[in-house]
Amino acid sequence: MLMFLMFSAKGFAQISSHRDWQKLPRQCSSCHKGHGISGTSMLPIPEEEFCYQCHGDFLERDKTIRERRMSAAAKVKNMRKEFLKPFRHPVELKSVPNNTHFLDNMKIFNPAQSECLDCHRGHGVPRPAFTPGAFQKRSTRSENELEFELCYKCHSDINQFSSAQRSIQTWFDPANPSFHPVETSGKNPDVPSLKPPYTIASVINCTDCHNNSDPSGPRGPHGSDFRYILEREYNLVDFVPEGESQYALCYKCHDRQSILANESFPVHDLQIVSMQTSCFTCHSSHGSQINQHLIKFEEDVDLLKIQSSSSGRLGYFATGRFSGECFLTCHGVDHNPKSYSNQRFH
Ligand code: HEC
Ligand code: HEC
Ligand code: HEC
Ligand code: HEC
Ligand code: HEC
Ligand code: HEC
Ligand code: HEC
Repeated sequence: MLMFLMFSAKGFAQISSHRDWQKLPRQCSSCHKGHGISGTSMLPIPEEEFCYQCHGDFLERDKTIRERRMSAAAKVKNMRKEFLKPFRHPVELKSVPNNTHFLDNMKIFNPAQSECLDCHRGHGVPRPAFTPGAFQKRSTRSENELEFELCYKCHSDINQFSSAQRSIQTWFDPANPSFHPVETSGKNPDVPSLKPPYTIASVINCTDCHNNSDPSGPRGPHGSDFRYILEREYNLVDFVPEGESQYALCYKCHDRQSILANESFPVHDLQIVSMQTSCFTCHSSHGSQINQHLIKFEEDVDLLKIQSSSSGRLGYFATGRFSGECFLTCHGVDHNPKSYSNQRFH
């Protein structure tokens, strides 16, 4: 049977640390076993527990090293720890049958799950067939895809994987009036707050925001101490005093001084610092199908917070460079409308 494996092994013409025989001295048998678990590619242990033999805690790694299936020189990180964090991809949920719950088969198996092998490949990713743009990351699972395309496999309605998982893809549609530039560069030519290296021509990745909250830990959207697997803190509620850390996620790419000096919206400072309004109350994190500048008053409305104006209107209208008007009632203040232009508010 192992001979069969030898001859049929595909995708090994690639760069992958999983075929570094200095680090995996038993070569194929570092991972495969003559009589593996039924329904698997001759793997000895199911699902993520298989990976944790080498990518687990110290004791697990030590056992594998003592069995000479991995060299002590291998620099493997403790991934088990990542999936013990409060906000994480749910790899611990069991799918049936073991190890066959790969992305390609997801329509058949339980959709509301994710496994290591949904986002990774046992043998690593083959040599890529294309060169991505400047900051664009490749998929960790396919040589033909970008990172966001991997995420859409599950986080979009198109696949109907789960009604609980909302379509993320909708927000990033380049046809929208505004979006964070994941699929392509953004639409706003005036974003004075951007910190280098970011410019209005930049594209960013899902994992620039959804990543490990521990900066020295393994990279990737595995687990985070922050809700929504965010890399940095993002306070979503009003009446919390503004600070570097409350909006650390946004201030990663947008200069805090610029925002609070009202370089674009003339009352950012008043709203954020004095009124203690969260960015989240006005801005969508992903995109808007209705408004410019990621304004989300009509979408995802929190009716306890934002209601229609006294004339019954609710909406935002950009009326030019750094100018626009708002119809709404927020924290009891009627905007019918309130407009701003050229750094003034009236
Ligand atoms: C680091 C662990 C690891 C090593 C080393 C490894 N494999 Fe695998 N292999 C896997 C995993 C995990 C799968 C199942 C998931 C997948 O296909 O990505 C797999 C799947 C396979 C399959 C099923 C078909 C396929 O390619 O998907 C074959 C055949 C195979 N391996 C052969 C080999 C051979 C031959 C070697 C040595 C040259 C080898 N493997 C080394 C982990 C490993
Ligand atoms: C037999 C040990 C072993 C097993 C089992 C194993 N890995 Fe690895 N893995 C390694 C080693 C060794 C490295 C390279 C570490 C280094 O750079 O020193 C590695 C590296 C990686 C990397 C980094 C890729 C790169 O090229 O930088 C990823 C991702 C990864 N493994 C995922 C997995 C997943 C997912 C599984 C389970 C399907 C798994 N591994 C199972 C030993 C293993
Ligand atoms: C194999 C399917 C699958 C893939 C691929 C996938 N996810 Fe997920 N993701 C899930 C599941 C299942 C959950 C947990 C259920 C939920 O909250 O919707 C989840 C949860 C999340 C959450 C937390 C949602 C919340 O409400 O707290 C974020 C953020 C996320 N994923 C981002 C990503 C990113 C970024 C990628 C691409 C790098 C990605 N996902 C790829 C299945 C997947
Ligand atoms: C600029 C930062 C940023 C980028 C880029 C980003 N996200 Fe998010 N995402 C957030 C924030 C902040 C939240 C939580 C607040 C919210 O929902 O607006 C969130 C929430 C989520 C959620 C859970 C809530 C929901 O709406 O279902 C998922 C799933 C998710 N993101 C997936 C993705 C995927 C997939 C990508 C890439 C295609 C991506 N995100 C790109 C910042 C970002
Ligand atoms: C939702 C998709 C997803 C799931 C599920 C997932 N990973 Fe990852 N993983 C990623 C992405 C994306 C990266 C690359 C992040 C980067 O470099 O930007 C990554 C990176 C890694 C790395 C390299 C980290 C480093 O800093 O060197 C390892 C090792 C790894 N993953 C192992 C695993 C293991 C083991 C599991 C299951 C227990 C798993 N992953 C589950 C998406 C995922
Ligand atoms: C990884 C970097 C990154 C992070 C993190 C980030 N942004 Fe952005 N943001 C950008 C880039 C790049 C643009 C420029 C897009 C353009 O020119 O349209 C942008 C543009 C914007 C715009 C203007 C969009 C328009 O069309 O007018 C707003 C509003 C915005 N971001 C708010 C936020 C908020 C709120 C957060 C925190 C939740 C955040 N950003 C986090 C990179 C980021
Ligand atoms: C009261 C609603 C409101 C709040 C709260 C708010 N913004 Fe804005 N923001 C706006 C409006 C309106 C614009 C569009 C200005 C224009 O006409 O170009 C804007 C524009 C932006 C831009 C694009 C232009 C630039 O300055 O680079 C960024 C980035 C931004 N906001 C980030 C944030 C961040 C980060 C927070 C929280 C710390 C926040 N905003 C809080 C309403 C708000």
